[in-house]
Order: sequence, then C-alpha cells, then structure tokens
Amino acid sequence: MIRHCDARDGLAQLRTGSVDLVVCDPHYDNISGGNKNPNAPKGILTANDGKASIRHNHSHVADFAGEIFRVLKDNAHCYVMTNLKNMDRIKAAFKAVGFKLHNLLGWKKNTANPNRWYMKNQEYTLFFRKGKPFRINDCGKKSFVTCDELPWGDECELIHEFPNPTGDAKQHPTEKPVGLMRMYIEESSGPGDVVLDPFMGSGTTGVAAKQAGRKFIGFDIDLQHVMTACRRLGEMPC
Ligand SMILES: C[S@@+](CC[C@H](N)C(=O)[O-])C[C@H]1O[C@@H](n2cnc3c(N)ncnc32)[C@H](O)[C@@H]1O
Repeated sequence: MIRHCDARDGLAQLRTGSVDLVVCDPHYDNISGGNKNPNAPKGILTANDGKASIRHNHSHVADFAGEIFRVLKDNAHCYVMTNLKNMDRIKAAFKAVGFKLHNLLGWKKNTANPNRWYMKNQEYTLFFRKGKPFRINDCGKKSFVTCDELPWGDECELIHEFPNPTGDAKQHPTEKPVGLMRMYIEESSGPGDVVLDPFMGSGTTGVAAKQAGRKFIGFDIDLQHVMTACRRLGEMPC
C-alpha cells in the first residue's frame, strides 16, 4: 500500500501492533550544507527552505518515533538509516519512546562524498528492537557490508553514481540500494510479513519487500517520489 501523505497522518491511521518490521531512511534534521554554496541550508532545519532536494526536511524525526513504536508489533525489529551528524538525535529519540539499540550497522558505498576531514564512503543504520530480543535469520551476517557481500550485490553499483545517472540508475536524490534493504528485510521478517517505510522516497524498501515476498506499506510527503515508487512497484497510490 502506497500513500501520498505526511508520515504523521499515515502512521495515525495504522492499527497498534499491525506492522512486523520497519525499515526506513528518514530525511535529515541536520544538514551540513554545500562547501561551495554560501546559500545552502545548514544546521538543524526549522522551516521549509524551498531547496529542491531537501524541501521536506522541516519535520524532525523525533516527531515520528512514538508512532513508529506504536504501530510496530511487540518483539520486532526497526532499522533506521542515518549519517554521523544525525545519528545521536535519532538514537536518543527512538530510545526515548522505548526502542532498544541492538547494533550500529554500516554500508560501504562504491562512491565517496567530498569532505575535508576524510571522504565519506560509508553510511549507517541504527538497528533497534521493540520488546524482547530475538535473533536475525542468519546470525553469520557481518555488521558492515560491502556490495559484493550481498547475493544481489550488483544492484548497489547502480546507486550513488555521479553525476546525473541516466535511465533507471537513480530515481531519488538519496536513493538507497535495493540489495541492502532486502538484506535487512530478509534477516528480520518472514514471508508475508508487513514491512513499513514511512519515508519511502522512490520506494526502494518496497521494491526489496516485494522481491522478498513481504507486504509493503509506504508513505512519502512528496508527490513526485510517490509517483516514482508507484511506477517501480507497479501500484496505484491509495
Ligand atoms: C532519505 S529520503 C528516502 C529515500 C529512499 N530510501 C529511496 O531509496 O528512495 C527521505 C524521504 O522522506 C520524505 N519525507 C520528508 N518528510 C516527510 C514527512 N513528514 N512524511 C513523509 N515523508 C517525508 C522525503 O520526501 C524523502 O523522499
């Protein structure tokens, strides 16, 4: 099920304990801005600043943590992707509503973002649980994965290629690899389970859920991204 809505409205309509797994990649509260553009937004965002790629970052992830906790069933996992700058705020917000942190996972990208203090070629995922601890499906999985460690690794190579990928290579400014999301889904849920991504962007989590034989619920506040997700998933928004 795909909905064009603010995640707060979408979450409010879901029943308590109706979701088996959350895999999400929220917008950032804290933006570092561009090195070259003095007008680039920077710091903790409080208002919509109209920049195309971050036009919806004005709601803070802490606003959603409680509702994500409510809709998730007991004894379930929740994956939240982040960068270093936003990690502490997300961790604190999710722990404050009752999530327990299992682990910090890493993903080594095939490209690096420019940075004066070492180029960044990795991103992170906070791996939480609600309720009692239970093991992932393959306890042999490492916590820091490279594309070629995933059975579907080549899909990672399509992502984060710069500049201006053509065709289907990049469908969202911060698109994530299907393979990575699929790994999280396959490790923390079973066939037919309901996977939720309240900030689905181009629907990458949904594509992964579908490939893995799970049901998917996805929201995004941006109509353009919702239409991309619909196209990728072959669904109409409801
Ligand atoms: C980091 S992107 C997700 C990208 C996605 N993982 C992909 O692979 O395409 C975060 C998304 O959150 C959406 N977003 C921001 N604020 C939102 C809100 N209040 N409710 C729902 N979606 C929101 C943005 O439009 C953006 O598409």
